[in-house]
Amino acid sequence: MKRLNRRDYIGLTGMALAFGGANSVLGSPRLSANASSLAQDYSDQKHIPALKTHFSNNFKVGMAIGPHHLTEPKSLAILTKHANSIVAENVMKANVIGASQGVYNFALADQLVSFAQKNAMEVRGHALLWHQTSPEWFFAGDTHLSTYKASVRARLETYIYDVVTHYKGKVFAWDVVNEAAIDDASSDYRHSRWYQIFGPDYIDIAFRAARAADPAAKLFINDYNTEYADKRARLMRIIDTMQARGVPIDGVGHQLHVNTITPSAQHVTQALSETEARGLINHITEIDVSFYHDPESCVSMIETCLPSVTEKSAAHLGALKDQARKYRELYAVFASRPSVTSVTTWGVSDLNSWLSSWPIARLNHPLLFDRAGNPKAAFWAIIDPNFVI
Ligand code: G3I
Repeated sequence: MKRLNRRDYIGLTGMALAFGGANSVLGSPRLSANASSLAQDYSDQKHIPALKTHFSNNFKVGMAIGPHHLTEPKSLAILTKHANSIVAENVMKANVIGASQGVYNFALADQLVSFAQKNAMEVRGHALLWHQTSPEWFFAGDTHLSTYKASVRARLETYIYDVVTHYKGKVFAWDVVNEAAIDDASSDYRHSRWYQIFGPDYIDIAFRAARAADPAAKLFINDYNTEYADKRARLMRIIDTMQARGVPIDGVGHQLHVNTITPSAQHVTQALSETEARGLINHITEIDVSFYHDPESCVSMIETCLPSVTEKSAAHLGALKDQARKYRELYAVFASRPSVTSVTTWGVSDLNSWLSSWPIARLNHPLLFDRAGNPKAAFWAIIDPNFVI
């Protein structure tokens, strides 16, 4: 991990006074017992270290964005200071780019790509095939016809080939197939429309089309809960069969939508190791650390499991600290593994996060920057080993 440069901290002296206590050796701030966020406004990002510099010897620092971020000054400040990679949270999905067959809506994704190019950022492409965002036109036609399968296959190949060709040389890595593994033990494969039509072959078709369009782009299978042994075993078996068939795959995307309690560093290390054992790269593709541990019970007992009811509450501060510990634990694992070449947070700041509307609308605080754009305890925790949580 890159050593912190003291010059990075010029300007933080005011923060020491604001907190009035002993600081870490390197001068980053302390959380005080009665402050849930830092006392000084650092939302312009000017006087804090850059994540992309700090992790420059380890991995690309990515953030998921949408066109709206490009007009939000505080989001822009965070992005340009800290990120050297972006991914489209939504506008590169097939329901946006390919809402109608043969008509490509590249405009929104192109805005993000040109922003990345102007700011020397790489672009991860997400996602060429995801059952949740595959428009109906892919599947149109009489399923009983002997030509049905061939026509769906041709549509998929054309779509992927055209999209990857459009972004050839601009997107360095693609999530080719997203969430192919099933959650229960009934099978390895999710029983999506794609699987129902093709069986495992749909994965091969997608990867081969992507490779044909841009042989230099790194191709990923992306999934959630890879930190859990049972789900991971299914995904790894899928990968094994891909490799046995010679399907061109370069890496595994671990989404890592986690919470302040799970997973442990050991679980994540295991997931990374199993990828490495197959000769593949690891990307952390969608990390966020939710305040909520059990979405199901929190939905039914919403009043009792909200550490965020008031942002100044002791429970809120406790959750912030737990979150900082979890981010620190996991980023230490990422930084220690050369196979991890990209780590992307699923969003820029707590202002815009899918977790504020899923599984229900509620306040959540899953990212490294708060709603005002200030670095949270989690930010300091991952860059300063001496930051006291
Ligand atoms: O933009 C429209 C808006 O015009 C409309 O009024 C509104 C009404 O529902 O919908 C808006 O679109 C929503 C979009 O997010 C933008 O906010 C969609 O309904 C909603 O389905 C969509 O959700 C996204 C979801 O993927 C489905 O595509 C989330 O933002 C996005 O964070 C989420 O990301 C996924 C990854 O791709 C794969 N891994 C899991 C992750 C979280 O679910």
